[in-house]
Amino acid sequence: MSKNRNIRIIFFAGKGGVGKTSVAAATGIQAADLGYKTVVLSLDVAHSLSDIFDLEKSLVDLNKGNPIQVAKQLWIQELDIYEEIARNWGDIYRYISTLLNATGIDDVLAEELAILPGMEEISLLLYINRYVLNEEFDVIILDCAPTGESLRFISIPTTLEWYIKKIYKMERALAKFAGPVVKRVYDVPIPGDDYFDAIAYLFERLKGVDQILTDPKITSVRLVTNPEKIVLKETQRAFMYFCLYKMNIDGIIMNRILPESVEDKYFQYWKSNQKHYMKRAREYFDPIPIFPVTLYGQEILGYDRLKILASHLYDGKNPLKRFFKGKPYQLKKAKGIYQLIIKLPFVEKENVELSKVSDELIVRVGSFKKHILLPRQVAAAKYVTAKLKDQRLFVFLKGENHGQRRT
Ligand SMILES: Nc1ncnc2c1ncn2[C@@H]1O[C@H](COP(=O)(O)OP(=O)(O)OP(=O)(O)O)[C@@H](O)[C@H]1O
Ligand SMILES: [Mg+2]
Repeated sequence: MSKNRNIRIIFFAGKGGVGKTSVAAATGIQAADLGYKTVVLSLDVAHSLSDIFDLEKSLVDLNKGNPIQVAKQLWIQELDIYEEIARNWGDIYRYISTLLNATGIDDVLAEELAILPGMEEISLLLYINRYVLNEEFDVIILDCAPTGESLRFISIPTTLEWYIKKIYKMERALAKFAGPVVKRVYDVPIPGDDYFDAIAYLFERLKGVDQILTDPKITSVRLVTNPEKIVLKETQRAFMYFCLYKMNIDGIIMNRILPESVEDKYFQYWKSNQKHYMKRAREYFDPIPIFPVTLYGQEILGYDRLKILASHLYDGKNPLKRFFKGKPYQLKKAKGIYQLIIKLPFVEKENVELSKVSDELIVRVGSFKKHILLPRQVAAAKYVTAKLKDQRLFVFLKGENHGQRRT
């Protein structure tokens, strides 16, 4: 557990182009304004943080991926993978590029390929851990890459634990004992102690980051979305995965809503379509609060416009507040049966209707309807049963059997 109990980490995640960077930057501005020492960290390779703050590119390049101060109490940081390799990955990177090189791939390509997927994400986790342990900032805002990549990012701490337990020890023993033989036969370089020591050191510095990310008092996820079918579908998927990784989601930012003042006929379809999907969003994400943001007449560039965005977004509320506590739903697996637990207070059994349509579970209570997107392996379940107990609905999903039942 971290020493700094007051630190706050907020992730902004969502599909490409929905407004993550703008909303993350705006939140950072407001946190800094309230006096918190804040850093907005970007994990997106196509960095745009410095662009929206209108910073000189040369300043960003000179800073080599370190935080740059943009206002009182406010820093932004865009990771530079080459700098991170020099800082954190030296021996690991050297071994992988030599290995690739030995298989006939030329130098330049080997160096490029040796940047393994995950290195950037792990570098970012190293920063998070360092900032929390050394109490370097009060607030860390993360501007995530589009959904798919940020989901890989949050899966890293669990994967790492698995790797160190299962693979690392075995590899190290193999390299030690079988290494000389393999080398004689295949003529590929075998990783030496430097490589394994570097990995061990990396793990050491990542220790505890998984607890930080899953501690709801510290970390929250805010999903940025737009009131449109495809975007919302992806937000549902992200919502489910963040839930599965036991991260606290405390807000949905519904961006780019056409303002009422737009009456042009051309936009009539868009307006009614948006209304429809805003209603769907409530069914999907309830009880997590939804923060509406209108579509502005122009791009949100520079400090002043970002500040206006922040004031509309949080509407006088403290942006660091945990807007939702608790879990919207839990998914467990026991004896091959998946169990989905949803809180349903003040509800009688007779009023609950349950159906599974493709990969969604739909819970209906009177006029209230909730859609829950199921993970792939659960969505394949053919047999669905449910019971209501202690104001909670337990849904059991099982593979082999046939039929579908209502409560
Ligand atoms: N509510 C809004 N009104 C007007 N323009 C907006 C709004 N939200 C975002 N934009 C503009 O849309 C563009 C994309 O926004 P932004 O870069 O924040 O999205 P993103 O989700 O970070 O994108 P990416 O996935 O590419 O990183 C920017 O030019 C931004 O100024
Ligand atoms: Mg972005």
